[in-house]
Amino acid sequence: MNPQPIGIFDSGVGGTSIWKEINLLLPNENTIYLADSANAPYGLKGKDAIIQLSTKNTELLIEKGCKLIVVACNTATTNAINILRESYKIPFIGIEPAIKPAALQTQTHAVGILATKGTLSSELFSKTSGLFARNIKVIERVGDGIVELIESGQLYSEEMKTLLKLYLQPMIDANIDYLVLGCTHYPYLIPILIELLPSHVKIIDSGEAVARQTKAILEKNNLINTQTKKAEHQFFSNGNPDIMKSLLGSGYKADYLDF
Ligand code: DGL
Repeated sequence: MNPQPIGIFDSGVGGTSIWKEINLLLPNENTIYLADSANAPYGLKGKDAIIQLSTKNTELLIEKGCKLIVVACNTATTNAINILRESYKIPFIGIEPAIKPAALQTQTHAVGILATKGTLSSELFSKTSGLFARNIKVIERVGDGIVELIESGQLYSEEMKTLLKLYLQPMIDANIDYLVLGCTHYPYLIPILIELLPSHVKIIDSGEAVARQTKAILEKNNLINTQTKKAEHQFFSNGNPDIMKSLLGSGYKADYLDF
């Protein structure tokens, strides 16, 4: 039994969508979540800056005693996880757009992907996309402005709807039947996306797969927590913690931390 917490970080509040999946599958695990909202969005930064910020978050989580780190950010994973794995001994779990299942299951041979500029332009993404999506049409779209709206608490705003309509139209015109969400902020958009997309379009994200992979790696490394007492969760933001609290729902508290 290992009571050390799982560390989770994202450029902001989006990774809480991943935290929810992890907590559902691994309810005994203590967790510490870092929202680097003061530096969001990572998606517009260069690779070196993303590596530097990911390193800062990692060091704080290691200092706080974490046994494994989930990089709950596609942009940080696709740009920095290889360096993190080379630099630190603990296991890292990353998240990448679920292009493979979409490419394997599409009937219309067209899938849409919404992600940040940093993810879509990364070497890791073009490798995965080249490997699995060679024979289908992939309509990529950078979700400019979406993360900023979520980070400022404007999830259900008219501005969000207008942006999403604009980004989805070329995908709808290309007759996609799968939409891949390539950013951990985007699962919070699902109710709006369902409203805007034709009903046959399926939306997929990688949250559940990340939780399953986290469980598998904890088991493999003998790091599972078998405690029967209620798990402890700490949420820290270097931006406005109230935005995170509103996404987590009642029963959780989020604190400001300068990091
Ligand atoms: N939530 C992040 C992701 O999964 C990054 C958003 C951003 O900071 O640009 O890519």
